[in-house]
Amino acid sequence: MFIGREPETQFLEELSSSGKPELFVLYGRRRVGKTELLQQFCRGRRAVYFLAAQVREKDNLRAFRDALQEGIDDPLAGSVEFPDWTAALNFVAERARDERLVVVLDEFPYLCESTKGLPSQLQRFWDTRGKASKLMLVLCGSQVSFMENEVLAERSPLFGRRTAQRRLEPLSPESVLPFFPKWSMRDRVLAYAILGGMPAYLRRFDDSRSLFENVARECLRPEGYLFDEVQFLLRSELSNPATYNSLLAAIARGSEKVGDIALDVDVARAAARRARRAAHRSRSVALATRYVPRRGSLPRLPFQAHPAAYQPDPRRPRRTRARGVHPARRRALVRPSAPCVHRRALARTSRRARRR
Ligand SMILES: Nc1ncnc2c1ncn2[C@@H]1O[C@H](COP(=O)(O)OP(=O)(O)OP(=O)(O)O)[C@@H](O)[C@H]1O
Ligand SMILES: [Mg+2]
Repeated sequence: MFIGREPETQFLEELSSSGKPELFVLYGRRRVGKTELLQQFCRGRRAVYFLAAQVREKDNLRAFRDALQEGIDDPLAGSVEFPDWTAALNFVAERARDERLVVVLDEFPYLCESTKGLPSQLQRFWDTRGKASKLMLVLCGSQVSFMENEVLAERSPLFGRRTAQRRLEPLSPESVLPFFPKWSMRDRVLAYAILGGMPAYLRRFDDSRSLFENVARECLRPEGYLFDEVQFLLRSELSNPATYNSLLAAIARGSEKVGDIALDVDVARAAARRARRAAHRSRSVALATRYVPRRGSLPRLPFQAHPAAYQPDPRRPRRTRARGVHPARRRALVRPSAPCVHRRALARTSRRARRR
């Protein structure tokens, strides 16, 4: 059962029918549904879906040949032995000379691990053969940091070659509702509040049991699928998860602003800087989200009505204490308030008057 993803599917359809060579980069955190989306898209099309593994280059090339054989009706595809990825890509470009051929390389970071310099090979291929063919090449990966730094960043050989990119986000709330048709609307909304829009997590919940039972089984039992998921995600994406654990703990304790989180994690300046960077990184791994109130959305009521929201933080150094405070209140904090100015002016005039 494939649910939601209408905008993404439509976008892929548009790319596929553009009539031009396309190099599309799809990435997103683990379990968000990349593979499922791409497999759905390949169904019923002239397409080769290849899932790379953490094995030697030769084994991945062999597996690619098998995927080719499955995907396109070509007697040569089964017998050919590719010496390297340039040869394999030239083969598919040849098959895409007159007719659109979609080639998906899923878990692209694994391919790069087994073949050093693959992005450069790919760049050379694209500049010479790829962009003269009717190929739609999709590079897909779960390691967000790798995809952003090694594939999309300016220093990557592939920079400027991609014709489109998309970071796949969790499903929208309305797409989550059909996962649990047997539950009341209240329970479905609660399930979304607990699991977010992650299809892999949503699939673990079974609507033939109650919501409470599902939470007990999947989240709270040590054997449950979600019991250790945060640790698993941190370990798979980051080399040193310790700081990130502290960060998440700080957020759970109620620190909301980046500065507060940094203070909570460690007060030393260098550590605070590191923690800020880490907070940014956690957002990129989608473990934490940053909400910034829009200017217009600040309440117009007097601040006294919102003491909790706009109080300066006494733990901060004096210079930055008023940061995050409502602008009007900050003015009052950094400059002497109007009555105060008035009092000083009065004092000055009366001193002068006395001198005279
Ligand atoms: N739109 C969807 N509707 C229903 N189930 C989905 C949907 N998308 C994904 N799933 C299910 O969620 C699970 C995880 O999806 P998938 O394997 O595609 O994620 P992924 O992003 O490729 O993960 P990874 O990065 O670990 O490879 C699978 O069981 C899949 O069937
Ligand atoms: Mg996948």
